[in-house]
Amino acid sequence: LNVTKFQNEPNTDFSRKKYRDDIKQALKDVEELFGQDYPLNIDGKAQDGRAHIVSRCPFDKELKLGAVAAASPEQAEQAIAACLRASTQWKKVPVDHRAEYLDLIAAEMRSRRFELIAWMVYETGKPWVEADAEVSEAIDFCRYYALAMRDLDAELRCDYPSEENALFYRPRGVAVVISPWNFPLAILTGMVTAALVTGNTVVMKPAEESSIIAFKLMEIARDAGLPTGVLNYLPGIGEEIGPTLVGSPDVDIIAFTGSREVGLEINRQAANPESQQNGVKKVIAEMGGKNAIIIDDDADLDDAVHGVVSSTFGFAGQKCSACSRVIVLKNVYDTFLERLTGAIESLKVGPATDPGADFGPVISQEAYDRIQDFIEIGHEECAAIVNVDLSEELPNGYFIGPHLFEVQEEHSRILDAEIFGPVLAIQKAKDLDQALQIANESDYALTGGIYSRSPKNLERARNEFLVGNLYLNRGITGAIVQRHPFGGFRMSGIGTKAGGPDYLQQFMLPISVTENT
Ligand code: SER
Repeated sequence: LNVTKFQNEPNTDFSRKKYRDDIKQALKDVEELFGQDYPLNIDGKAQDGRAHIVSRCPFDKELKLGAVAAASPEQAEQAIAACLRASTQWKKVPVDHRAEYLDLIAAEMRSRRFELIAWMVYETGKPWVEADAEVSEAIDFCRYYALAMRDLDAELRCDYPSEENALFYRPRGVAVVISPWNFPLAILTGMVTAALVTGNTVVMKPAEESSIIAFKLMEIARDAGLPTGVLNYLPGIGEEIGPTLVGSPDVDIIAFTGSREVGLEINRQAANPESQQNGVKKVIAEMGGKNAIIIDDDADLDDAVHGVVSSTFGFAGQKCSACSRVIVLKNVYDTFLERLTGAIESLKVGPATDPGADFGPVISQEAYDRIQDFIEIGHEECAAIVNVDLSEELPNGYFIGPHLFEVQEEHSRILDAEIFGPVLAIQKAKDLDQALQIANESDYALTGGIYSRSPKNLERARNEFLVGNLYLNRGITGAIVQRHPFGGFRMSGIGTKAGGPDYLQQFMLPISVTENT
């Protein structure tokens, strides 16, 4: 098997001065490029949009990074038409050649690592170290899917006397990839390369907030020599071009990562075929989480505090995998709460260019306002334990300080919604039964964790904690390709796990051929 040869890409060792200098230089180099225009790319040709999206820096609201063309619905149709045209040839390209393009994309990302990090720092406010891990993850997706597809290329045979049977995979056709801003390179690269290597042509619609980073992926794919029209770059406003992309009878597959609301809407629309459409569209949707960590009464509390803090506040809580509920058994509740409070109060918030900051801003004014609304609800319904207001200290960006709310009554609305910000709710449970019951109350099921020294309780969590990615005695974010195939169920999404052994099959049609000999 090819995939057994896979190795994860190492992250940069920023304890070495050379690499710290490299990143500082890359930040300066990228600053020189601020203010440029970024056109669409349809069928290999640059096109202006009917409007522009001004990309801004979340930690410096006045800083305009560039103007990205916003596609019109007509341009969305053109991109789909380009995909259809390119599809005839692309389907016939041997798997090994398609996989080589992914290897080339990975190699190019490796050589442009610091530049990609710098763009993520500026465009999404992601701290260096996390942006660095994201480049590794993007490279991993390319390399893993390239190897996995080579494995899937062999026919599966099951011959009988006088009957030859073969199972093989065919590309579906045209894929639309709609990606989020929070993993602007890794998730985008994962969905795009999976669609490409399985023989589909792609319309890439990045999140409005991270369209420049997506432009960089387009550049890299072009430099890798990907044939014209196979990948099309279509930034734009979701509400304007989404319905055309999802509703088109020529689109066969939609790979989406983002909010539950949008994911469900895509699923609804895709299930409602137009009269000219000859099949039901395939939807792969990753839609978020409301993830909990349980602290057992024999847990190592030092580890637990560290795991909860990093899982909750890393990238300001803007990860679908982030922890937003911590459920603590009553015997250790007071001790844990005291230590957790101290750890949260010592967090430093600042611009993503400052390596001393534990976390940076949230992505936009809209996100800022939405999170503040949840903080209001927290104040109304819970006791505020940590409540850091940064509006005077850091007025230039969308900075929200860390918040910890103690849920004292049975319930609070902050326990239901995915807040996607630096807000944590703590709840007390009388025993593990109750802790598991509370953890499973969410209608999401993405990540979850437990800190415990009891093998019996860890075993119970394995069996009874209903999430797609369960972590025992460690933080619950930062899934690594192949080691931790990633994805949830219930309202967290539909489809199999990214970076896992059955992800690519979703992008293809299994065909069984039987010959009577
Ligand atoms: N894969 C990411 C994580 O595990 C979330 O998308 O944190």
